[in-house]
Amino acid sequence: MIIKSTKKLLHINGDHYNEKKTTMKIYKQLKLEIKKRYYLEEIFIDDSYLNFINNCIGCKTCFKTGNCIYDNKDGIIEIKNKLLGADIIVISTPIFIDNISGNLKTLFDRLSYWFHTMPLKGKKCILIISTYRTGINEVSNYLYKICSYLGLEVVGLITSDYKTTKNVLCNEIDISLDYLETGLLKKCTNVAYSDYIYNLYDKLYKDMLKNNLITFELAYWCKLHQ
Ligand SMILES: Cc1cc2nc3c(=O)[nH]c(=O)nc-3n(C[C@H](O)[C@H](O)[C@H](O)COP(=O)(O)O)c2cc1C
Repeated sequence: MIIKSTKKLLHINGDHYNEKKTTMKIYKQLKLEIKKRYYLEEIFIDDSYLNFINNCIGCKTCFKTGNCIYDNKDGIIEIKNKLLGADIIVISTPIFIDNISGNLKTLFDRLSYWFHTMPLKGKKCILIISTYRTGINEVSNYLYKICSYLGLEVVGLITSDYKTTKNVLCNEIDISLDYLETGLLKKCTNVAYSDYIYNLYDKLYKDMLKNNLITFELAYWCKLHQ
């Protein structure tokens, strides 16, 4: 008998919430499949959260201190805690003007210092991208890259445009589920992109130490080695 384990699944939807939206329809189908393999504790973040996140003002305080000046002024801490508490993170977005949606970009900007410390290392990520016709390659590459910088292991990429059939979608969902369970993607490439970046940062911090640059980031990496 196969015993299912429990996973915390966080879905961040960069679209205006509506069950009929493509991103939500794909997510629903994906969730059904994940549920066959795991018990799920599901958490959902949509624009009712994201619309209240302030835009980054570029002060760079977070890079120096590890705290954002807006930390206690909007809902960002709650979102950070949800990200840190999840096992599987699904990020979905429509393509607007060949890019991710604005509220998702604001969220990533507000997490900027996390791109230097990779606190989501070890968590699995599945990306869902929906467009009418253009932008799939650009947005797939962009999201794959920046999610890896957060430490996420991207195991799935599900995309949809005007010519995507149900069969193609089912296939992409199946592949994502296989990688989610087996980490095959990592095995194929020897090392996940997020591991590569992690090792790079690890080396960089030693140079910072040599140059006596005492920053929040240096303290963070030193602590990992204690
Ligand atoms: C503001 C806006 C910008 C858009 N920009 C593009 C675009 O650059 N390329 C494209 O192919 N589709 C574009 N679209 C179409 C969306 O990607 C499409 O509506 C999205 O995938 C959601 O599909 P749905 O309405 O079926 O949920 C845009 C839609 C909106 C509302």
